[in-house]
Amino acid sequence: MLREMIEKAATAMQQAYAPYSGFHVGAVIKSKGGALFVGCNVENAAYPEGVCAEAGAISAMILAGDREIEEIVVMGAGKSLVTPCGGCRQKIREFAGDDIKIHICDPQGLRKTVTLKELLPLSFGPENLR
Ligand code: THU
Repeated sequence: MLREMIEKAATAMQQAYAPYSGFHVGAVIKSKGGALFVGCNVENAAYPEGVCAEAGAISAMILAGDREIEEIVVMGAGKSLVTPCGGCRQKIREFAGDDIKIHICDPQGLRKTVTLKELLPLSFGPENLR
């Protein structure tokens, strides 16, 4: 399944619309039910309106009626690990527990697996409002 997620992330990365940064990102979410949801970054001439790959994948998951993230692949190129930005960490947190795995990949494959807790310690989530 991880292999399939990585393949889909590579395709998504190629589909990214990133004319301003030139930085293509693909993201694949596996929901609790086992379905895969894909996103790519979509930039905008009004720069702050750009959307990250993770946010696109979350939208696709919600549209399909799923609410629980089990695992995520994020793929981008470059020397540094392409980890989700701060805003995306919080967006992921809305639909994921602390222990879910986030697989950081580049087009060559898996580079590092981390938990959401490592990326967003002491996080604030929906439970705080219950
Ligand atoms: N980007 C993502 O889509 N996801 C990440 O995890 C990191 C950054 C996008 C946003 C922007 O379109 C481009 O990469 C450069 O920051």
